[in-house]
Amino acid sequence: MVLGVEPGWHGHDRLAEAFRAYAPDGTFVSPAPQQIAAYGEMSELLMLRAGGIEREQALPSMLASIVSSGGLDETAVGNLLHMTETGQFDLTGLWCWILSILGRNPAFVERIAAEGDERRRDALCTAVAQETLRLAQSEYVTRRATQDIVFEGFLIPKRTMVRIAVWEAHKDPGIFDEPFRFDPMRFVDQEVPADRYAPLGIGKRRCLGAGWVVGLSSLFVQQIVSGFRIETVGPGGALRGRFHFEPSDRLVVRRRERDGLAARN
Ligand code: HEM
Repeated sequence: MVLGVEPGWHGHDRLAEAFRAYAPDGTFVSPAPQQIAAYGEMSELLMLRAGGIEREQALPSMLASIVSSGGLDETAVGNLLHMTETGQFDLTGLWCWILSILGRNPAFVERIAAEGDERRRDALCTAVAQETLRLAQSEYVTRRATQDIVFEGFLIPKRTMVRIAVWEAHKDPGIFDEPFRFDPMRFVDQEVPADRYAPLGIGKRRCLGAGWVVGLSSLFVQQIVSGFRIETVGPGGALRGRFHFEPSDRLVVRRRERDGLAARN
């Protein structure tokens, strides 16, 4: 969807390998020499792919749109590569949270599994993704004030770094009743306005992957629920990961296939 690369493309495996070499432990701030080399390999492969896209009828992707608008340059390539890297890191984090939360809420899993109406089931799965973003995954956005601002009586001087506490705002009991309770029904049959719920940012800097995050996570929930019964064992809670809070590394999610053949941790 971003890089316009499908598994059948001849450079696919090399690109996947370069990605693994580039950020084996997730996103980083300062690159080491081997990461600079991996980045060179990734950009070369992406330029190669862009050439292919120009010649063939490629499936829609961000790369294909940029190629057709004539805007492909080094910066665009870097943006696409980094968007992929941070996007997959954030999405993986969200899916770990979804697994841990579903495992602690087997009754809701069974409620989705028993839902006969497909549209309703989709709505429940989407709501699980939205509720997990609210409870766990979204944390903050930062901005630097470009001028003195007075906000609700407080002066924010020019050049101040402002951290907007999204996680905390999502736990405001004035907005979300019993804010620490997992209750996806808050999002079923109702739109929560952006000034109350904004896990993917707001305004012109809103996450470019927002639609994918919710749509793919809904599909992820659907796959889990239709294939498995899951339960969480071990301590709940969170630990401070490299960039985000993550489920405790002592947590085990046990899955049992619905046909009862296998149970794995
Ligand atoms: C759980 C997954 C994700 C979360 C929680 C998330 C969250 C966010 C947030 C809060 C912002 C706004 C930052 C700000 O205002 O300073 C943002 C921006 C952005 N996100 Fe995501 N994101 C996720 C996944 C993705 C994915 C999968 C992609 C694309 C593949 C993506 C691409 C972007 C881009 C390009 C921006 C910058 C937009 C701009 O500055 O114009 N994100 N994301």
